[in-house]
Formats: sequence, C-alpha cells, structure tokens
Amino acid sequence: MLRRLSHEQPESFDFTPANLAWAEAQITKYPEGRQASAIIPLLWRAQEQEGWLSRPAIEYVADMLGLAHIRALEVATFYFMFQLHPVGSVANIQICGTTTCMICGSGELMAVCREKIAEKPHTLSADGKFSWEEVECLGACTNAPMVQIGKDFYEDLTGERLAEILDALAAGEVPTPGPQNGRVGAEPLGGPKVLTEGNEADRVNASVELALALGDTVRRIDGSEVPLLHPWADRGGRPVGVKSRPASAQPEPARVEPAPALDHPVDETGVTVQEAPVESVGKPDTPVADVADDKPEPVRPPWIGAPLADTPEDLISIKGIGPKLVAVLNYLGIYHISQIAAWTPAEVAWMDANMSGFPGRVSRDDWVGQAKAMLADRDAG
Ligand code: FES
Repeated sequence: MLRRLSHEQPESFDFTPANLAWAEAQITKYPEGRQASAIIPLLWRAQEQEGWLSRPAIEYVADMLGLAHIRALEVATFYFMFQLHPVGSVANIQICGTTTCMICGSGELMAVCREKIAEKPHTLSADGKFSWEEVECLGACTNAPMVQIGKDFYEDLTGERLAEILDALAAGEVPTPGPQNGRVGAEPLGGPKVLTEGNEADRVNASVELALALGDTVRRIDGSEVPLLHPWADRGGRPVGVKSRPASAQPEPARVEPAPALDHPVDETGVTVQEAPVESVGKPDTPVADVADDKPEPVRPPWIGAPLADTPEDLISIKGIGPKLVAVLNYLGIYHISQIAAWTPAEVAWMDANMSGFPGRVSRDDWVGQAKAMLADRDAG
C-alpha cells in the first residue's frame, strides 16, 4: 500500500513552546550520538499537536535531530501510526484489511465507510469530521474484523455495528471499545472453556477498562467537549484526546503542560527519574482562568518511569482507590504511597483536575493524609 505525503501542505511547522520543551527533554533520554532514536516520539508529538504529519513537521523534527530529511521521511512513511494526510476532526477509521480481517468481512466495513464518510480513503467527509483508510494487520486477528479509532480497537465488527458506531461518534458519543459481539477478549464465541471464574459483572477486558478509566480515546475538536488526559494539546480550541461530555456537566479541568526531563538525564537503568522541582514544571500557554486566587495553581506532581525495585505498592490500601484508579495512577507514574504522601496542595489540585472520570477524588478522600498516616504507622511498627 502506497503511503505518500499529502498534496496539500502547510507553509511551516513549529512545536508549541511546551511541546518544544518536551521534545528537547525526550532527546536527553538517549545516549550521546543516539539522539536520532527520539524520532518516533517527536513525530508522534508533532502529529498530536496538528492532527496529522505534514512535510514541514517531518522536516522540522529531522532538523531537531540533525538528520537528513529523507531519514525522517522514511520513518514517517513506514508506520501506519503516522497520518500523512489531514484526518477527520472527530475520528479517522483505520480498517484492517489483512488476511484474517479480509476473510471475516473487512470489505463490508470499507463499504460502510465509503457510504458514510467518503468514496476514497484519506478523504475527509463532507463535514470534515471523519476520514478512513485501510491498514495492515493490527494484531487483533482473533477478533476480526476490526478497526482502530483513535487509540482504541473496535473488534468483532459487522458492517451494521460499524455504522452504529459511526452514527454514535457523529452524535458526540464515544462507544465502548473492544469486542462488539459480547466477547470480553478472544475467548470462544460460546464462552470461555478455561479460566471461567471471574467477576461476571465486569464484562470488559483490561485494555477496555483502562481506556474507559482514562477517557483517552477518540480524538475530538468540538469546542463543547472537555479535554482530558492530553494537557499538552490545549491549543486554543483544538484539543486532542478529549471525550464527549457536555461542558455544563463538569467544569473544565485546569491543565498544565508535561514536565520536561531537562537536567535529569536517563539513569544507568534506562529509566528516566523525573524529580524536577515544582518550579521547573511547564506552565500552560494560557492562564488557567477558573482557578480562584486563594487556590494553588495546579502543578503536576513528580512522577517516575517505573516502580522502584520493579514493585509497585498496593495503592488500593488507600480508601477511595480502586483497580481503575490504580491503573490511572500507574499511567501517571505514581506507584508508591510515599509519592502520594509528598504531594503539595498544588499537586493535589492537579491530580484532582486531571484524573479523568474521578475529579476531586484525591482531596475528597484525603489521599495525602491517609498516605502520611500509613507511612507513620510503618515507621512506628
Ligand atoms: S488480520 Fe486484521 S488484525 Fe490481524
């Protein structure tokens, strides 16, 4: 399948100041002489910023890394994760067309996209909200046919079900990802033959559960929707990675940019330990308007790239934290009681605002107080 740059290209590309700081920090993770290895995260961030990868963006990243432009073009044109054409503002439907999905009905899925989105792939729908393309095997062959939308897989599809999903997305909803025929994972259609014990009420797999907990799924740019866990993407009404939710239902969370790892190069284990002082944490491009004067400006707490000694603590021992919140916390680089005990009021405010689906949970249940009490008990014991 040919992957070519779009005929229409913008004049130029620049990272936002926050994304530039992030990108420069990423480069510090790689040993001297190996900075070119940062190309994938930098291209990905450029795509997250713009929605797709333009030629100026690819060349900009190549220049940052001191690469010939052709080297960056080779990478960008090789991987399907990089969009070389403008994509729908709500969703780009990536249909697996490889053998298993083809046998199981990917042609039917493409017919739905031709009818509902555009006759040809890499073409925006009339309202600009959708686009579609055929991609190679996405590794979910036992759940064929399937599509990837945003960061999620929708599996065990029929043309009829995909049409319903597209209608739901157009209506501002985010359908639950995962198998669409009642399966939880890749068990037999008649139900599991082994490992049959489990919580029957919890009928989604771990991947879907995490996607639902994070709310980090289909990309949306409708200004009425609330940005969630992509704080860097707030670019004046063009957020990336936001979930459909009426603005009136919940106040927009205060957002901060990701903390760069400047001055904290990778350690000998290969894990970047980010213990930057709070004043080094990036600030949003625009002031947070809804933070009252007497409240601290939210600051992202320090996080770590992996649990210490490869052993995360049982954060569920803190009242109010369940398995879903553990997944969110680990995603944010929080693995230990001592990390929570050290949060300042500004860091609590950030956590309260940025854990999608669980706003205000940290202060409501006084996680910091609980964590401090646990540490005190440990010291006493
Ligand atoms: S063939 Fe479609 S996911 Fe593998």
